[in-house]
Amino acid sequence: MEGYRGHPVAGDGAYIARACELAARAIADAAPNPPVGAVIARGGMTLGEGYHHRRGEPHAEVEALRAAAGAGADVRGATAYVSLEPCNHHGTTGPCSEALIAARIARVVVGARDPNPTAAGGIARLRDAGIDVEITADPTALALIERFAYWIGAPIPFVTLKMAMSLDGVIAPWPGGNFALTGAPARERVRDLRFEHDAVMVGAGTIRIDDAQLTVRPHRTRRKPYERVVVCETDAVPVGSRVFAAPNTAPSGAYARTIVLAPGGQREHFAALEPVADVVYAGAPDATLLDLAAALRALRQRGIASVLCEGGPTLAGRLLERQLVQRIVWFVAPRFLQTPQAVPVLTGADLTRAANGWRFDRVERVGEDMLVSARVGHV
Ligand SMILES: NC(=O)c1ccc[n+]([C@@H]2O[C@H](COP(=O)([O-])OP(=O)(O)OC[C@H]3O[C@@H](n4cnc5c(N)ncnc54)[C@H](OP(=O)(O)O)[C@@H]3O)[C@@H](O)[C@H]2O)c1
Repeated sequence: MEGYRGHPVAGDGAYIARACELAARAIADAAPNPPVGAVIARGGMTLGEGYHHRRGEPHAEVEALRAAAGAGADVRGATAYVSLEPCNHHGTTGPCSEALIAARIARVVVGARDPNPTAAGGIARLRDAGIDVEITADPTALALIERFAYWIGAPIPFVTLKMAMSLDGVIAPWPGGNFALTGAPARERVRDLRFEHDAVMVGAGTIRIDDAQLTVRPHRTRRKPYERVVVCETDAVPVGSRVFAAPNTAPSGAYARTIVLAPGGQREHFAALEPVADVVYAGAPDATLLDLAAALRALRQRGIASVLCEGGPTLAGRLLERQLVQRIVWFVAPRFLQTPQAVPVLTGADLTRAANGWRFDRVERVGEDMLVSARVGHV
């Protein structure tokens, strides 16, 4: 059953869900492009489907049209379901709107509008060509492009701040220890987050105390190298820290040289790290304190569109205080850890203004732990 202008049709939701599922396959590799999936269907039959694998490679609509052609299907008069508005510009590939028009598609159902002003306009172009277009503003489709929608117009990458704490807001009953708070399912979820972001970042304290590797284990191959970032201010972390090792040198899914962010005026303190890491001096050349916004701008300039910050409490507090976080992901373990020496989940910052306008949009049980997540409202 085909729809008529501006009205949803039974089954639209299932096809958009499938388009989103396809898009999610390239969530790590498509960046900085958004992940996009497409399905072409008619009368309850899928004729072709595809997704955008990587920047420079065909877009989802073209993949789906090719798949349909490869299967000998006639797509004239069919409906195209796309998780994101078809592009309307000549970038590294041709406009998808034109490809759909040329294929004589009759109806297009769009999961989310394109937030990129350069590529948008596909919906108008399709309508001008007499194609029925339905925009569903599907929550999954919108979530898929959340990082892209921010990054495309911002001077810094999209920053997700992930922390784990006890019910009473503590990360460890006493300072200095690497305290395992959450269970295996939560740790597995964190590895998914690492895989999905362009870079994972921690403060110097977490490297000194935990000697964290910041890898994805078991290894998951992706075409973009994994980027790891250590944020320092006054003192370098040890040259022999495990974060500087390259755990996988295979061309596919390899780890890039670790990036160390340091203040512009602290070169002599960090010179020893230069043989093992890419030391990026951010902010003014005489700055002795780290300008976090400048440091994040430097990451964006290196092509990093999204960052997963995993703490610790000092760096997390500073990022929130400076309103440099776009999403929080908080794991809450079902235990109390309060002692007179307990370490709070955020330290050293004035956060009285940091939580204005937040909306929890995900609450979920992960194993024995709880995950709560919010989009930060000041962006
Ligand atoms: N529960 C969790 O989710 C979680 C997550 C991560 C870590 N942890 C725990 O947290 C502990 C480490 O905490 P932490 O607070 O000491 O470490 P941290 O936040 O990882 O690192 C703090 C360090 O970051 C550097 N830094 C860079 N820019 C800064 C800025 N703008 N303002 C302040 N500092 C800046 C400073 O390094 P310099 O020393 O060079 O000045 C500072 O000492 C470990 O025990 C670890 O296990 C818990």
